[in-house]
Amino acid sequence: MQVEQERLAKLRYKIEEANERYYVLDQPTMTDAEYDSLMRELLDIEHKHPEWVTPDSPSQRVGGFVTKEFPKVRHLEPLLSLDNAFDAGDLREFDRRVRSAAGPVEYVVELKIDGLTVALSYENGLLVRGATRGDGEVGEEITANVKTIPTIPLRLKETVPRLDVRGEGYMPKASFAKLNQEREEEGQPTFANPRNAAAGSLRQLNSRITAQRKLDYFAYQMLGAEEPEVKSQTDVLAYLKQQGFPVNPEYKVFQNIEELISYCEGMAEARHRFPYDIDGLVIKVNDLAQQRELGFTAKSPRWAIAYKFPAEQVETVVEDIMVRVGRTGVLTPTAVLTPVPVAGSTVSRATLHNLDNIRDKDVRIGDHVILHKAGDVIPEIVRALPEKRSGREKVFDMPECCPECSSPVVREAGEAAHRCTSITCPAQQREAVIHFVARDAMNIDGLGPAVIQQLLEAGVIKDAADLYALKFEDIIDLERMGKKSAENLLQAIADSKERGLAPLIFALGIRHVGEKAGKILAKKFGSMERLQEATADELQGIPDIGPAMAESIAHFFRQESTEDFLDKLDRAGVKMTAAESSRPSVFDGQSIVVTGSLQRWDRQQIEDLIETYGGKAAGSVSKKTAFVVAGDKAGSKLAKAKELGIPVLTEEEFARLLEEKG
Ligand code: IVH
Repeated sequence: MQVEQERLAKLRYKIEEANERYYVLDQPTMTDAEYDSLMRELLDIEHKHPEWVTPDSPSQRVGGFVTKEFPKVRHLEPLLSLDNAFDAGDLREFDRRVRSAAGPVEYVVELKIDGLTVALSYENGLLVRGATRGDGEVGEEITANVKTIPTIPLRLKETVPRLDVRGEGYMPKASFAKLNQEREEEGQPTFANPRNAAAGSLRQLNSRITAQRKLDYFAYQMLGAEEPEVKSQTDVLAYLKQQGFPVNPEYKVFQNIEELISYCEGMAEARHRFPYDIDGLVIKVNDLAQQRELGFTAKSPRWAIAYKFPAEQVETVVEDIMVRVGRTGVLTPTAVLTPVPVAGSTVSRATLHNLDNIRDKDVRIGDHVILHKAGDVIPEIVRALPEKRSGREKVFDMPECCPECSSPVVREAGEAAHRCTSITCPAQQREAVIHFVARDAMNIDGLGPAVIQQLLEAGVIKDAADLYALKFEDIIDLERMGKKSAENLLQAIADSKERGLAPLIFALGIRHVGEKAGKILAKKFGSMERLQEATADELQGIPDIGPAMAESIAHFFRQESTEDFLDKLDRAGVKMTAAESSRPSVFDGQSIVVTGSLQRWDRQQIEDLIETYGGKAAGSVSKKTAFVVAGDKAGSKLAKAKELGIPVLTEEEFARLLEEKG
């Protein structure tokens, strides 16, 4: 017992240290596999001893807490909003007001991160509560969700009696773009910007979903701590950093308002270079005593102001609307624009999503339109400018036939998307290969869309599985293919055979199955063969796999073409089983039967344990059964085991076996 508890403490320390190194200091110290293995061990111990789980255990970051609604919490002090400044004049006016009330001051300028306010409360050094802003007085308690943000400390570096911290929860641009892409592919509505995505993620009733959303946090304010040496906002930031919070390093101190203004104007230009969306800057009086002296108006502090960047919207012209056919046959209309610089790059295309969206915004070919970048990344048409029409604009309609293969296009009831009905559509085949080789899928470098197009057109490959049969002479004559790049490509293709089950499942391009689902399925089934046999019912029983996905997976594996495709991969030597678990394989493929009612685990838990440790949980006793774990009121299976002379273990004996060997 004591040994196990000591091991648990050690695991927690190691995991939190690894977390901090990885997320906060950006200096990873262990591999993902090592980390996963430590985490699994910790989860196993906590599973066996739920009474040992502490609020600061790294297991709390995995999520899984499900609630029906969020309790309301009253904030210690209301969360106020800031007055806005839009130009140099507004900033000078603010400075004049401040100086006339407080005399000479120093300012700190911080980035205004475009996320949502998250208030954190610590008691005796432990994170006890996380809350949203709500109406400023009363917010929603989202502690379980907040704990899944890896950079938020569950325990402070020092055990201070009480500390309330405020900051911004946000979603980095890259995570936002990826999340939206996944959602679009899975036919789910996309988020308008990273702020909405972050807010939606933090308001999930199941914290496991929040855990998957790649959120982050910057702390910028504290209340309640009696720290005599913290005298200014820059001290606050230093103190928060010292306690383990992520603090945005991009802040700057000014004594002179004109210098501050030119810094702000420069930042408006530079705003796109950050990996997260910022919508302005926050200017604060640095000295806390002066802040107190200045005080508050009814709704905002007099010692701070938000400098809002002008929303980056530009005007351009829709020269044409093209239709792209995706991997699942969905036709996506894309506006071809007169190229125009916006939010840090030149944009010449913008997705129009679907026909409903085009009709809602009434965008016509030839229209002048207002363009922006959703979340600073995704070009989007905000609205058309009908007052600028000449009368020559054309109303767009979806083609009745697929632009690539001329098969009929249909729109199914209840769907926003139009689809090509052919399963042999070259566009779908091309997109399927492009998807197969993508970084998150089989990760075959050097195989861009142009090369794939040439290979398909020349008939060298018909599908992605044919890539594994490619020879040097098949590719050396392709456009822009040198000897070195041909060799590298063949090597990359060969290397991808070892990529593993999860990316392979994702690479298959099954409708609704994203990267995350690939991982879940690989973990659950362990091999392609077992996944192929799964029924829709069985799939639906897996957490995070919904009915639409379950049906789509089962349907995919019923297709004859799927079987042929997987056969080809198999013959080529593509690995179709999950990576060896770093766990010792205690049961090494043994078939184990569990019967009767157990005290310590429920049926699912013990079966999971058997499988985690390399065994198979079987339903009936036969000569092949290695042993039976029998609980109370075991009946016919126990009798059968005795009859066949198969060893029978009690729950305790089974647990001991795991402890000794595992
Ligand atoms: S200070 C008393 N600093 O902007 C108000 N706010 O209305 C203290 N925000 O939603 C706010 N970055 O969550 C402050 N560095 C920063 C900020 C920041 C983003 C958000 C804040 C609130 C809004 C201010």
